[in-house]
Amino acid sequence: MDYHKIKDESMSISDWIISIRRELHEHPELMYEEFKTSELIRRELDKLEISYKHPIAETGVLASIGNGNGPCVALRADMDALPIHEETDVSFKSKIDGKMHACGHDCHVSMLLGAAKLLKGKEDQINGTVKLLFQPAEEGGAGGKLMREEGALKNPDVERIFGLHVWPQMPSGQIGSREGTFLAATSSLNLTVKGVGGHAAVPQLTKDPVLTSARIITNLQSIVSRELDPLDSGVVSITVINGGNASNVIPSDVIVKGTLRSLTMDGLRELQKRVKEIAEGIAQTHGCEAIVEYVGNDYPPTVNDSDMWKFAKGIGIDLLGDENVSDLDAVMGGEDFAYYTEKVKGCFVVLGMNNPDIDATYSVHHPMFKADEDALHIGTALHTIFALKSLEELNS
Ligand code: NI
Repeated sequence: MDYHKIKDESMSISDWIISIRRELHEHPELMYEEFKTSELIRRELDKLEISYKHPIAETGVLASIGNGNGPCVALRADMDALPIHEETDVSFKSKIDGKMHACGHDCHVSMLLGAAKLLKGKEDQINGTVKLLFQPAEEGGAGGKLMREEGALKNPDVERIFGLHVWPQMPSGQIGSREGTFLAATSSLNLTVKGVGGHAAVPQLTKDPVLTSARIITNLQSIVSRELDPLDSGVVSITVINGGNASNVIPSDVIVKGTLRSLTMDGLRELQKRVKEIAEGIAQTHGCEAIVEYVGNDYPPTVNDSDMWKFAKGIGIDLLGDENVSDLDAVMGGEDFAYYTEKVKGCFVVLGMNNPDIDATYSVHHPMFKADEDALHIGTALHTIFALKSLEELNS
C-alpha cells in the first residue's frame, strides 16, 4: 500500500475537509444535542452514497463501508462541543453564544468524513468492513458507552478501533501516543455541605457550612500528597464553590464540585472513598452534614493495545518521518474512547495542532483554542491507512 499516495489524496480534499470543519465550528452543539451536527454528517454520507444507521446513541451515526462482513475495523470521531464562549478572532467563529468547539471535535468529524470519502473511493478493494462511529457526548455524557451498548461494535464484530484527537501541545502535523494506559479514569464530584444558617453576627447559633467547606477542601489536598504512593498518579481538583449571597448571612448550605482522576479504576475508587470519608468526617466535626455524590459517568482509563500503538506508530513513521512521531507520557485527561478499548483492541492517537504563526497555542477547553487546519488532512490520511492496512493484516 502506498501511504504517500493516500496522503496526496487526502491533501487534494483538504479544502473540503476544512470547509466541513468550519461549518461545524460555527454551529457547536452540546452533548446529546448534536442534531444539526448529526444532520450534516448524514448529508455528506448521503452525497457519498455511504450507508449508515441513525439514530444510534440518540444523535450518533454509524456508517459502514465495504462488504458488510468481517473482518471489521472501526474509526471513531466525537461530535459534541463545550459550554465555553469563544474568544478567538477566526472568521468562522462560533455563532452560538456560550458554546464552542473548544476540544476540536469539529476537526475529528471533518477528518473522519474525509476518510469516508477516500475509503468510499476504494470500496472495491475493501475485503471486509470499515465502520465509522460518529458519537455524541464525549464531554462527560459517555456517548461512547451508549454507542457500545447499542451495538456499534457488533455485527460484524469490530476487531480493531482507532480514534484521533487534535493536540495543541504538539507541533502541527506530528503524532503521538503510547502503549498501555494513555488517559486517566475520571469521576465528577458533587459535594453538598449542609449546616444551619443564620445571622453572621451570632455564629454560635449557626453551623457554618462555609468554614466547614473550606476545611474540607484544604484537607482533600492531603489525599494525593500524603496518601498516594509518590510514584502513582492522582488528581483531586476542586473547581466550584457556591454558597451564600450576603455578607451578613451565614448560608445553610454550600455546593462544592470537582474532579477526581487516576490511571486505574482501583485508584479512582480509592480516591472516591477517601474524598467521601474526609468530607463526612470534617462535616461531622463541625456539626454539619456532607452529602457526597459522584454524578454522571465515571470514565475508565483509556488503555491502548501495545500492538495497535506499534502498528499506528509504524504507519506514522513511514508517512511523517521518525522525527514527527513520539511516545508520550500518560496524561490525566479522560476520554470515553476508553469504552471501546475495554472491549476491542485499539489505539487513541493524538495529532499535533500547535502553530504559533496562527496563534494556535492554547490548550483544548480554552476559549482561545485554535487548530492548525492545514494538518487536518493528515488525520484523514491516518484514518484511511489505519483502516486499509488493518484489513490487509486481518485478511492475511
Ligand atoms: Ni475532546
